[in-house]
Amino acid sequence: MLVCNMALRLRPVTVCFLVVFSGVFSFPLGQQKKETTCGYQSCHATKPDMLNVHLVPHTHDDVGWLKTVDQYYYGDRNNIQHAGVQYILDSVVDQLLKNPDRRFIYVETAFFYRWWKQQSSSMQQTVKQLVDEGRLEFVNGGWCMSDEATTHYSAVIDQMTLGLRFLNETFGVCGRPRVAWHIDPFGHAREHASMFAQMGFDGFFFGRVDYQDRARRMKDKEQELLWRASSSLTPPMADLFTGILPNGYNPPDGFCWDQLCDDAPIRDDPDLEDYNVDDVVTRFLKAANTQALAYKTNHIIMTMGSDFQYENANLWYKNLDKLILYVNANQSSGSKVNLLYSTPSCYLQELHRANLTWPLKEDDFFPYADAAHDFWTGYFTSRPALKRYERISNSNLQTCNQLEVLGGPASRKGPFGAGDSQTLSKAMAVAQHHDAVSGTEKQHVANDYAKRLAEGWQHCQVLVSNSLASLRGSSAEIIYCDNLNISVCPLTEASKKFSVGVYNPLAHPVTWPVRLPVNGTAYGVTDATGKPVDSQVFPVSRSTQDVRRNRGFARNELVFQVQAPPLGFSTYFRGAPPVIQNKYLQVTFDPDTGLLSGLSNLETKQTIKLTQNFYWYNSSRGNNAESKQPSGAYIFRPNSSTPLVVSKTAKVQSFQSSVVQEVRQRFSPWVSQVVRLYADSKALELEWTVGPVPINDWQGKEVITRLDTSIKTSQLFYTDSNGREVLQRRKDFRPTWELKQTEPIAGNYYPINSRAFLKDDEDQLTVVTDRSQGGSSLQNGSLEIMLHRRLLFDDYRGVDEALNEASEIFPDGLVVRGRLFLTLDHPASAADTHRPLAQQVVLQPLLTFTDGDLSPETQLEFSGLQAALPSAVHLLTLSQWDKDSVLLRLEHQFQSDESQVNSRPVTVNLQKLFSTLDVLGVSELNLSANQWKDEMKRFEWSPQKGTFEDPSVTEVTLRPMEIRTFLLRVSRR
Ligand SMILES: *[C@@H]1O[C@H](CO)[C@@H](O)[C@H](O)[C@H]1NC(C)=O
Ligand SMILES: *[C@@H]1O[C@H](CO)[C@@H](O)[C@H](O)[C@H]1NC(C)=O
Ligand SMILES: *[C@@H]1O[C@H](CO)[C@@H](O)[C@H](O)[C@H]1NC(C)=O
Ligand SMILES: [Zn+2]
Repeated sequence: MLVCNMALRLRPVTVCFLVVFSGVFSFPLGQQKKETTCGYQSCHATKPDMLNVHLVPHTHDDVGWLKTVDQYYYGDRNNIQHAGVQYILDSVVDQLLKNPDRRFIYVETAFFYRWWKQQSSSMQQTVKQLVDEGRLEFVNGGWCMSDEATTHYSAVIDQMTLGLRFLNETFGVCGRPRVAWHIDPFGHAREHASMFAQMGFDGFFFGRVDYQDRARRMKDKEQELLWRASSSLTPPMADLFTGILPNGYNPPDGFCWDQLCDDAPIRDDPDLEDYNVDDVVTRFLKAANTQALAYKTNHIIMTMGSDFQYENANLWYKNLDKLILYVNANQSSGSKVNLLYSTPSCYLQELHRANLTWPLKEDDFFPYADAAHDFWTGYFTSRPALKRYERISNSNLQTCNQLEVLGGPASRKGPFGAGDSQTLSKAMAVAQHHDAVSGTEKQHVANDYAKRLAEGWQHCQVLVSNSLASLRGSSAEIIYCDNLNISVCPLTEASKKFSVGVYNPLAHPVTWPVRLPVNGTAYGVTDATGKPVDSQVFPVSRSTQDVRRNRGFARNELVFQVQAPPLGFSTYFRGAPPVIQNKYLQVTFDPDTGLLSGLSNLETKQTIKLTQNFYWYNSSRGNNAESKQPSGAYIFRPNSSTPLVVSKTAKVQSFQSSVVQEVRQRFSPWVSQVVRLYADSKALELEWTVGPVPINDWQGKEVITRLDTSIKTSQLFYTDSNGREVLQRRKDFRPTWELKQTEPIAGNYYPINSRAFLKDDEDQLTVVTDRSQGGSSLQNGSLEIMLHRRLLFDDYRGVDEALNEASEIFPDGLVVRGRLFLTLDHPASAADTHRPLAQQVVLQPLLTFTDGDLSPETQLEFSGLQAALPSAVHLLTLSQWDKDSVLLRLEHQFQSDESQVNSRPVTVNLQKLFSTLDVLGVSELNLSANQWKDEMKRFEWSPQKGTFEDPSVTEVTLRPMEIRTFLLRVSRR
């Protein structure tokens, strides 16, 4: 940095330029505050008659993988992997200041936030200047780069909002990323593209795409396309320009100049040995010209960086400066290749300027294979316990956010101390990372994610207790039981009298079954008005006793439904009953095998044959002739296409009562299930318990359940995308290329985030899941879902551990319990049941307990809403934004073609929404809440235009699948 100071006598060799433009001083390195020239204005000029090569310096910083997020930040445990994000940011900023032409993009706000907090204010000022000048540019900008196969849209929107809000508040408009950047996720979900479009991104880039898909696209120059990511939203609302990067996210071969790489530096002193400039230039021109053959315009992009690179950024930048200098020097002798420092948005701007037409894509990028026997479809199910914990944590976070709004300031500081929602909000955001909820991290890192979620929930519990105390007018101690799924709750086991609080985070009434571990055999249950509620006591099952190990002693479970009048009957059977039923469904069993045999909807008079059983695929250990690929955390590779049955028959016990009817099936010591039908439920519950999966036979096992039905399908089945819109799948088929199927099982697996279904003209069987899982339909009428995986080998994608989960309580292997919910309907009305059902499974009521009698002044009922929302509308977000405002997201939860009743626009009056809040002002935002809706202007890649309403109106209309985001200025009544 050259300082010009007129008062000093300059030494002869120091030349000081002061360039004067009509009174404005311009300093070469921009230390003086200039007008901001970030975004598209900060892009370097390109040459229209040349091939322009956009060199994009970048680092890919996983928010946890082989090391925890904090270990990566500090560069701790470098014996596992040499990686330290704090040094990367230190070094990059230093190097950017050395040459104003240089550019860098940064992606993961979880890391940037940590670093920013530790900088001095002068360093923060310097960085702000770099951002204002577009030299440091944020792309994507969420807290992490989320996984696409195993995340739920609600958590993805939250994590993007968290990161983008920080960037906006720290850097203003220059901190707003223009492109989404998912260079590493292992396959790409259509719903992600839809969300990114609604977040205002102009384009989307990623690195991984199926090798057959890529080959076809390279040949036809279709690696850049327009993704129409919704079948319901009016284009271009969910249209997103999408670019597949040329080399994953790595530099071209031979041009990696990081300290983690071994490529030769540019040796440009002709007086020294090994001068190699000519060689480098020749090789580079060859690489650029080859790459250009597969793309449409005279612009190409090169990602100059990779995992945790730029820790010593000088190495990269010194060589990139020279590369640009020497390659461009050849232009004077006729070369038509022009190199420039660039960013993805600068590259995107050139593609937009090219004004071409781009192929339209309407399906998604699943499954992903990088070779014939390497299908990345195992991680759809890997670590099923973590996947469920992440999903419950989302429910807990939404409840926590809502109660923070409803309880007001007293919720953060009240009788139970200081509580907050931020800890859980950040833990959930970290858990969305593509090596977190995906299950593709090392074991110690998976433990760290779970620990963060648990700590977040503890902070939220304090907040929830404070909020409930304020709403109920009682500061009696509130107790939480987080292990009800395995019938463990010290309070209910020991207490003779207790009360249960139920908080429903949905904006619709629900009937929810409650099951509590108890030691006694007779209990009376009354509701808030003192009326008796029908309840039953059942013995705790053997499988529950097995799975809880020594964490509880209750002999019985007390079962009742919230809001259910007493009817009072009960019958106990040994052996299979011929049938169980309620007013909606009838379920039959095969008396010989004890398996399910049929399902009827009694209202619509539909009946299907339905057999269900458990099987396991024997995992490949990578020792066969075709390929050495074993099954692992990422990859699913069964040894044989025929799964082995766990048992052809189940030992059966059943309990029937007016509250619930259940059939307990035991298939083996490590597989059992309860088939359960509650009195008021339109869904049949299958509660499966799998584990410890035995491996003493030295066979890795991937356990599935399969439903074989009489529904007449022909190769087709349906799975959701991130819990929202549903996509049609066809066996051995991809909509955009001619598939050569090389793995008949794994190559047909798709992610299921919340539901899958089979249908013919009459019947639709929908399965709603309680977490993300992989699944497929490999035979007509059949649907299989993978539940658990226990493997003996690493799959060579870096984790270097076998997916063989155990813990202190389960040294013999994790036991996993979960639920599937089955509904049978006509295809034309099936969504009327499965849409609300799936939301109930995602946002489950929170149960709280108080020992003994409640004080008489306790308010027993409260609703935060004036009335239930219309059935098509889901309350997606209600959270405190700042002192005077709350963030509200309302979602139309039906697709345009799904329901005669519900697939219509609906109108909600925001002023009449809340019971305790007055709405003083409404502003509409983009989906990620980092831009005002009326300022959101995206590149148009198609001539159609969207229509936006006046945001000052409080009556808002939602069309099918639309999410609208509002900032409400509120005051408390
Ligand atoms: C883009 O192309 C269309 C059709 O080819 C043309 O009508 C339009 O004027 C072009 N726009 C620009 C900005 O060049
Ligand atoms: C639970 O019941 C068992 C058997 O009646 C009894 O031995 C035990 O003390 C009871 N535990 C509690 C905490 O009531
Ligand atoms: C973005 O941040 C600025 C302050 O940097 C703030 O004034 C503005 O309201 C924020 N925009 C949104 C949409 O929140
Ligand atoms: Zn990654």
